[in-house]
Amino acid sequence: DEAALETRFEAHVGEGGFIEAKDWMPAHYRKTLLRQISQHAHSEIVGMLPEANWVTRAPTLKRKTILLAKIQDEAGHGLYLYAAAETLGQSRDQMLQALHSGQAKYSSIFNYPTLSWADVGVIGWLVDGAAIMNQVPLTRCSYAPYARAMVRICREESFHQRQGFDSLRVMMEEGTEAQRAMVQDAVNRWWWPSLMMFGPPDGESTHSAQSARWGIKRLSNDELRQKFVDACVEQAAVLGVTLPDPQLKWNAERGHHDFGPIDWAEFWRVVGGHGPCNRERLAARVNAWEEGVWVREAALAHARKQAERAAA
Ligand code: 3HC
Repeated sequence: DEAALETRFEAHVGEGGFIEAKDWMPAHYRKTLLRQISQHAHSEIVGMLPEANWVTRAPTLKRKTILLAKIQDEAGHGLYLYAAAETLGQSRDQMLQALHSGQAKYSSIFNYPTLSWADVGVIGWLVDGAAIMNQVPLTRCSYAPYARAMVRICREESFHQRQGFDSLRVMMEEGTEAQRAMVQDAVNRWWWPSLMMFGPPDGESTHSAQSARWGIKRLSNDELRQKFVDACVEQAAVLGVTLPDPQLKWNAERGHHDFGPIDWAEFWRVVGGHGPCNRERLAARVNAWEEGVWVREAALAHARKQAERAAA
């Protein structure tokens, strides 16, 4: 019966076991994974937009090809994740419908504008850096299709972070005073929103306790945020940029850096759809969906013809 199945499930994931698509799972486990994986996929696809703004404006052909490769990777990550989410019984059309209607979320970070070329490097360094922090533990997520998708995504993500850090290093070491100021300005604008990527404080997190019990969330929002801050302090020193937080300082007792308060009102405003670019990002996705009807119809017609030919 249901209770016995649930007890066995809890014991299995409790001791670090994995769940495959065909295994029994509580309805709530399925629901929360569909929520998280589909929103993760939406984040990858919407995340292509801020960087796309700079493909035609990249300063060299090398930087343009690197940026194009990164954006193409994000599209691929989105497809792996939509495919992983589909194994839980929802169609891609339903997931995209939820995104376009504003019902589903995507990462808050993508609702900020990319105002200069330095933003592309800072996104690679901070945004992809934060994404790696959050995604590495997901390679051990109890839902195996998600964990497998994350293994490949994490490998490509590390290239994303390195190319961003490298382009900033070039600007800081070889750039003019104005270019160095452009990097510092981008760091000032992206630092706090990058910390918000990890989600609300543990005490205000709706899903953390359940996701931790079910082996979906291996480290809490605040633990990952702290790891990220500690890593960035060293990297910022190497780059020669200042992180915009006067309260940031090493706490020997804790063995971590203390840092200032995050503006959670801003976070919830952006998550609620009222950030600088929310309307523009969603309109771009709805527009792509509508413009793409003919491509989907042609692909389906072609697939039908192939199937008829194969059956003949
Ligand atoms: N942006 C938007 N919504 C957020 C958010 C953020 N940064 N952080 C939390 N939220 C939402 C949650 O989705 C949840 O709302 P919901 O119930 O409607 O889904 C609510 O705020 C409460 O937050 P919780 O901490 O309770 O939610 P979770 O347990 O799901 O934790 C999370 C949030 C850490 C983002 C988790 O969902 C997660 O690990 N998701 C998968 C990884 C991911 O999406 N990473 C960010 C994407 S960036 C990216 O991958 C692109 C990269 O290539 C640059």
